Amino acid sequence: MKKEKVDFLIIGSGVAGLRAAIELAPHGDVIVVTKDRPAESSTEYAQGGIAVALSDEDEVGIHYEDTLKAGDGLCREEAVRVLVEEGPERILELISWGAEFDKEGTKLDFTMEAAHSRKRILHAHGDSTGKELERVLLKKVRSFPSVRKYPFAFTEDLIVYDDGCYGAYILIGGERIALFAKATVLATGGAGQIYSRTTNPAVSTGDGIAIAFRAGAILEDMEFIQFHPTVLFAPSAPQFLLSEAMRGEGAILRNINGEIFMKKYHPDAELAPRDVVSRAIISQMVRTKSSHVYLDLTHLDVNFIKNRFPRIYATCLQYDIDITKELVPVSPAAHYIMGGIKTDIFGATNIKGLYAAGEVACTGVHGANRLASNSLLEGLVFGARAGEAAAGYELQTSEEKIKMTLKPDTIKQNFDAEEIRHSLRKLMWERVGIIRCGESLANTRENMGKWSFVFNYTFKKRRELELQNILTVAELIAEAAVLRKGSVGAHYRTDYPHRSEDWERHIILRKKEKGITHEFIK
Ligand code: SIN
Repeated sequence: MKKEKVDFLIIGSGVAGLRAAIELAPHGDVIVVTKDRPAESSTEYAQGGIAVALSDEDEVGIHYEDTLKAGDGLCREEAVRVLVEEGPERILELISWGAEFDKEGTKLDFTMEAAHSRKRILHAHGDSTGKELERVLLKKVRSFPSVRKYPFAFTEDLIVYDDGCYGAYILIGGERIALFAKATVLATGGAGQIYSRTTNPAVSTGDGIAIAFRAGAILEDMEFIQFHPTVLFAPSAPQFLLSEAMRGEGAILRNINGEIFMKKYHPDAELAPRDVVSRAIISQMVRTKSSHVYLDLTHLDVNFIKNRFPRIYATCLQYDIDITKELVPVSPAAHYIMGGIKTDIFGATNIKGLYAAGEVACTGVHGANRLASNSLLEGLVFGARAGEAAAGYELQTSEEKIKMTLKPDTIKQNFDAEEIRHSLRKLMWERVGIIRCGESLANTRENMGKWSFVFNYTFKKRRELELQNILTVAELIAEAAVLRKGSVGAHYRTDYPHRSEDWERHIILRKKEKGITHEFIK
């Protein structure tokens, strides 16, 4: 096997990975590995914006309280404090690197989103905030000659030895490379693609969570999946996000009979927490026997809509929907995973030399439900922290001592990977989705065992490698969802519709010889 050496390895090129690279660049050589082109990440598609307490009417303490409230009692307060306190500095730094956020006159323009008690969402080019962040961070990364990018490189597994991580096995153009590094930062983003309905791009297949799990990392809060209430529902159209900022600017929800309904479910109506809005939509869909509800912007000023949401306006128009004149068919879709690789507030995992940041990680900042637009900020703040911590990490052993894992040759494949992928994603949507029930969760978890044979194969193609990761993450989510007998935040069970007595515990999962072991922790 070909070997290569670098000081720092970053896996993933969204906001967290790039911010970590910027922090690491002055300390040595850095390689940023990504399985697609560098800009292809959830960051690139983020619309609504980035929450930060920078407006005259806002305070860090209020952002802190709102985040805790959305997290429904399960946030780690220390991590939330770091997020809201360091957030303003990270944003000002980004502006100094050239980020152009939208302004009202000469002042930054802050918008409203659900569960925020102040207007605190910065946005760029109306509804292309993530694209602007990705542009600025990639430009900044390019200014460091010490950072190289390896695009179209799939990370198969981490190189682990004696409880330490020493880099990763990477597949580039069908060739396996052992890429040794002093410290490794996982920043691979989320796992929305394990659901058949998702806002996430095709790259979000939970790879980082799966490879960390195989390496022995501790995972936390895997049952908490956030479903975005308003995703385009039109037969020929993609599952395109209609930003919550639209409801922040006054858009309303109607069922297929044209009736408004949100006030019946929550006093904040359209701006209730996302889990409440998603469940309300599902209940209206069931009541009216329909596949969707509508988002209505027709009462808003036409030019305002076009200027404020140019990307959404143009995309919907491509599918013959003029959002300024017509009701837009929407239904919920999987959007964000609150759980992930358990880290401390410096991005350190339980494996020495392995750090994680962004959606792949679980710092506890989101608790059981993420406050809208907190994730880009999390990527910036904890990406920088993970980079800083990785820079200071001292390698525990020399590369020569490490025993490499040689994968067996591929056995002849006698199954259709695409068919399994399709069935699994559908199963997750139907059984481990917005509304869950113990019996069906337990059956689903058991049923997934029928696909375990895919782990016996050594694949080299991206879609097949992704299938293994999708299956691993699906099993982990289903396992945690079975274990949490109670409803809290985004995890709702019809057989336990209320909080259980012991609801304040977190569920951690870890690999055991065969299968998964769990523990409840405070
Ligand atoms: C949105 O624009 O609605 C998504 C923002 C987020 O999920 O934080």
